[in-house]
Amino acid sequence: MITKAIIPAGGLGTRFLPATKTTPKEMLPLLEKPAIQYIVEEGLKSNLKTFVVVTGKNKSVIEDHFDPYPELEHYLASRKKNDLLDGVNKIINSANFIYLRQKEPLGLGHAIWSVKHVVGKEHIAVFLPDDIIVSATPCMAQLMQIAIQEKCNVVAVQEVPIETVQSYGVIGVRKQFSPNLFQVKELVEKPRPVDAPSNLAIVGRYVLSPNIFQSLDEMKLGIGGEIQLTDAIQNLLLSGEKVFAYKIQGTRYDIGTPMGLLKANLDLALRNSKYSEEMLEYLTYLDREMLVMQGKATTMGKPRSMIQL
Ligand code: UTP
Repeated sequence: MITKAIIPAGGLGTRFLPATKTTPKEMLPLLEKPAIQYIVEEGLKSNLKTFVVVTGKNKSVIEDHFDPYPELEHYLASRKKNDLLDGVNKIINSANFIYLRQKEPLGLGHAIWSVKHVVGKEHIAVFLPDDIIVSATPCMAQLMQIAIQEKCNVVAVQEVPIETVQSYGVIGVRKQFSPNLFQVKELVEKPRPVDAPSNLAIVGRYVLSPNIFQSLDEMKLGIGGEIQLTDAIQNLLLSGEKVFAYKIQGTRYDIGTPMGLLKANLDLALRNSKYSEEMLEYLTYLDREMLVMQGKATTMGKPRSMIQL
């Protein structure tokens, strides 16, 4: 049985500075919810109950977010707006949170290693909070099913353009079982396109055996002066453990950069009936403005002053 989720949130978020100097990347909003709330919701829908969050300096607002706030609730109740906190209150009532501070941001592998005394001997579900995945069946539930059935480690993968593989861990395939399921032969962190064993990039969901901690114990600092989780999984593979890769079914948003967060917000707004109509109208207006600027259209439709920006 897999019951515990690890959410490493101890990174510095340098690609999002200066916003992340004091605001954790995981708390940046996608519409009205912070990114980490989407992650916990995916975990709960996958039947995970305990969330071990690895934090660091300036991350305590994550703890506050998943804590009751009686004064605010009282205020909202008096104005008949109690429903505004329903989503997060549901989480508070159904999930257990354990927070651990990573002593130094020495990489994703180090963040996972720091929970080793908390999670014991069971398989763990790892969620990277800067990958938001929207899918009919929660992505982690898909991975957990394979891990339980095959008694193996599972990494989520996605096909990416070969020129971008240097931003990812990449898998080499030993055997393909179905269009979306592979047995892994090797894992390489941030390969050059010419050295990449495939264009199947690891994205932010994993189910890992407890032996990952032993493997991380043996790790030295890898690429970027960090302890790399990909290297530790490769070590597991060499020690004889099975690693499978599952090509995710759904849409992934990489919200670790301003452009990624912006695209995710636009896309989610277009999928949400509360925002879609206004957003579409605004995008249509912007599109027309661009054409006008390029001299390819005239200013028909609404004058600029009538559009609520
Ligand atoms: P990233 O490399 O995407 O996050 O790590 P980062 O280091 O915070 O961001 P940049 O590159 O400086 O912009 C993936 C995940 O691993 C966590 C991050 O919080 C993120 O969720 N992480 C990374 C840790 O928990 N600890 C670390 O030392 C590094």
